[in-house]
Parts: sequence; structure tokens; C-alpha cells
Amino acid sequence: MACLSPSQLKKFQEDGFLLLEGFFTADECVTMQQRIGEIVAGMDVPLHCRTEFSTQEDEQLQTQGKTDYFLSSGDKIRFFFEKGVFDEKGNFLVPPEKSINKIGHALHAHDPVFRSITHSPKQPHVGGEVSPHQDATFLYTEPLGRVLGLWIAMEDATLENGCLWFIPGSHTHGVSRRMIRAPSDSGPGTSFLGSDPAWASDLFVPLPVRRGGLVLIHGEVVHKSEQNLSGHSRQAYTVHLMEAAGTVWSPGNWLQPTPELPFPPLYS
Ligand code: FE2
Repeated sequence: MACLSPSQLKKFQEDGFLLLEGFFTADECVTMQQRIGEIVAGMDVPLHCRTEFSTQEDEQLQTQGKTDYFLSSGDKIRFFFEKGVFDEKGNFLVPPEKSINKIGHALHAHDPVFRSITHSPKQPHVGGEVSPHQDATFLYTEPLGRVLGLWIAMEDATLENGCLWFIPGSHTHGVSRRMIRAPSDSGPGTSFLGSDPAWASDLFVPLPVRRGGLVLIHGEVVHKSEQNLSGHSRQAYTVHLMEAAGTVWSPGNWLQPTPELPFPPLYS
């Protein structure tokens, strides 16, 4: 953040998001994409773990919250899929490399290419629909400290292939919903405290980003991505930074650090 100009910082504070064009080179994006291609080519997902990723509350409760595959993915490299890519037996209906919504959540720790980009919890998105949400619904400290998302466009993100959309200024309204992990002795599962308002679709503005662009996302700004029905993928690499000073990582978060893989500090 030290490199932001006063006008950039002001814009981020007003809008809750900021685009920094050309933050990464095309070569860096190609390196990340090639590595994702290798990881997907070597993907081995047990049939019972072919879980579709969604932020829709009901579907989360059904497909993620009850699935240990998701809740224990914080220190592993695991795969989450788009809707409708499996038949009822869990067989792929589309080429596997076109089926992925997200790879998470510890590529930053286990893969040298992504470890070199950053060292923080991350979610590489391959490019699918993400319904309207605030990141602080899913990742939060006690008391709620600042949450910053870094969204790196590994490919051009356009109106056609599912770029980000934001409600400018919505980060000033607070967090309306919080995902809560069930106590470990009651088995895996999650629920929600509070509920999101019906955010009007005409409040969202699109943010097309050229390859190499970096989007800073305030943890409480409302944002989404549309389903990508185009013939072009929209790969992005996302990382979340949490304010640690004066806060503790909430035990209610679905994602928990492990003794083997604690969250790496940005400053040490
Ligand atoms: Fe998000």
C-alpha cells in the first residue's frame, strides 16, 4: 500500500476497491497460468469430493458446510468446481480443465510459483460465477479488523468472461452476514449469522481488468462475478490479508490455520 498515491488511496477509501493496471508482467501471468495448468493436469479428486463451489447460502450449507473436503482445505491444495460439470455419478461432463471454479486454499504454501508471488492465504479462481458477497462474511478477526483482498488478473477479465462487479461505497455499511463454523465436537458444518439485504443489481458497476492488473478489495465492499458463459477463461489469483494487530483470528472462521501451517505474517 505504500506505493499508492494520495489520489489512489482516496479513491480506494471512497469506493472500497481500486484497480492498479499492469502490476504484474505478462511473463509473470504466463508462469502462473502454466503452473495452474500443470496442477490441474495432475488433479486427482476422489469421487465423493467432487464438490461444487458456491456462495449461495443454501448450497453452501448443502455442499460445503457438510463436507470435510472444504472445511479441512485450509492447509491443502484442493479443487472446487463449477455447477453442472459432473453427472450424477461424479464423472466430468466437460474437460476437467474447464470445470474448476477455485483451487484452494494453500497453494501459497505448497507451490513454489505461488509462494514466490506472495505468502498469504489465497484462493486462485479459474473463473466462474461468484454471487454478491462481502469477503468479511467469510474471513474475519475478533474484533473485526481490516480485511484486504488482492485480486490478480492472470488473464483479461471482461464483461463477457466474468469480470468483477462492485457496489461502490458499500464498504461503509458494515458486514451484514457472518459465516460460522460449528464447534469441532459437533462435526463439520457451518451456518450464518444475519442475512444480506437484496442488493439491487443496478447498483453494481463492472471492473474489466487487463492481464497483470491488481484489484485491491476492501473486506466489506459488496462484489460479485457473473457466470462465465464465453469461450474465454478468466483466471485470477486471489489472496486475503488480515489485520493482526489487536485482533485474534476468530474460531468461528471456516478456514483455520493448523500447527503445520500457521498463517504467515506479512511483516516479521
Ligand atoms: Fe470476494
